Amino acid sequence: MHSELAPAPGSTTIDVALKIWRYDAETGEKELKRYEVEAPDWVTLLDVLDLIKDKQDGTLAYRKSCRMMICGSCGMRMDGAAVLACKTRMYDIAKSGHVPVISPMGNLPVRKDLVVDMDPFWSKIRAMKPWLDPGYEEPAEKERIVSQQQMNVIHKEALCIMCGCCVSECNSMESDPEFFGPAALAKGMRFVGDARDQADVARLNDYNAEHGIWDCTRCYFCNERCPKGVDPRDAIAKLGAESIKQGVDHDMGAKHAKWFVTSAKTTGWLRETELVPKTQGVVSAIKQTKFALGLARRGKVPPPVPPHVAARVDESRKLYNLVKEQGRDGALGIVQGEHALGRIEFAEQAGVKTSDPEVRPGVEPPHAEG
Ligand code: SF4
Ligand code: SF4
Ligand code: FES
Repeated sequence: MHSELAPAPGSTTIDVALKIWRYDAETGEKELKRYEVEAPDWVTLLDVLDLIKDKQDGTLAYRKSCRMMICGSCGMRMDGAAVLACKTRMYDIAKSGHVPVISPMGNLPVRKDLVVDMDPFWSKIRAMKPWLDPGYEEPAEKERIVSQQQMNVIHKEALCIMCGCCVSECNSMESDPEFFGPAALAKGMRFVGDARDQADVARLNDYNAEHGIWDCTRCYFCNERCPKGVDPRDAIAKLGAESIKQGVDHDMGAKHAKWFVTSAKTTGWLRETELVPKTQGVVSAIKQTKFALGLARRGKVPPPVPPHVAARVDESRKLYNLVKEQGRDGALGIVQGEHALGRIEFAEQAGVKTSDPEVRPGVEPPHAEG
């Protein structure tokens, strides 16, 4: 056995089986091959691949470097879901008798076996201009202190290790390979949200372009599969909120989002019949009249007049006013909302009343740094 993977004295071994998609882009040959190894009980998927390569098949191709979830090299799919091989423990899987299928990441061209071409990934990251634009050549002051509250806005985005697992799972990229994608947009948010960056509006205009933030389908698979907790979908939501706050709202997606808010505030309902003219414009709405009438005949949309007003519409108006009063707009508003929900959940678990000042939405607890 490979010396680095020898079981420690007293530790046990497990039998691990994998099925791996072998592929050669040059010949086009593709084959699902089964491998079995005896390994120490603490092995990760990456360790098992190393054992296979060392002992059984030196032609197996995959990427790795750090082996500790830092470099982002070892992204691949296990049973169709993107994982970091060095983060994936095999003990429970092997003990259950399951034989997982290992394949390359999705949405990127496959070169050989588990190795994908990352060039499309990097070109999208580069398109986000991932460097700080402080708006000056020489700083006026020696030190620029960024508050904890400002850092909280980009805390998660800064954790990205560029592994591509989110890109692998993105539904929108599957239908539109030109979509900027979750990793690049999370990187964009990392700079839009940086208090030292002075290029927010220019960046937001770029990210609101075709194939930009509003093309995300909100499937949340990127959040689910990101191994570092970056939550790229949340980053895209922050970019959307920041775009509207900064007046970069020419895209249909922004208009759609704004109409949702107006509709909920004024009637407590989503007024679907007005959604198309408010979002796509009157000309487009007229073109869709026949379709709309068909929907109305089958009771799928309510008539536009009189508007359907919820019995307790005052509640949604109060909520709207509260959010306005607290200034919870833009990316910071989203982060405050996340923190408030976290505090409410924590307080409920601890049996604290959610009306206590400690857990009021939008109010930082006394111990938080400003
Ligand atoms: S939420 Fe958006 S960015 Fe994330 S995987 Fe789905 S479509 Fe892609
Ligand atoms: S956002 Fe997460 S999944 Fe996507 S590249 Fe960064 S670390 Fe990987
Ligand atoms: S080998 Fe570096 S993240 Fe897995």
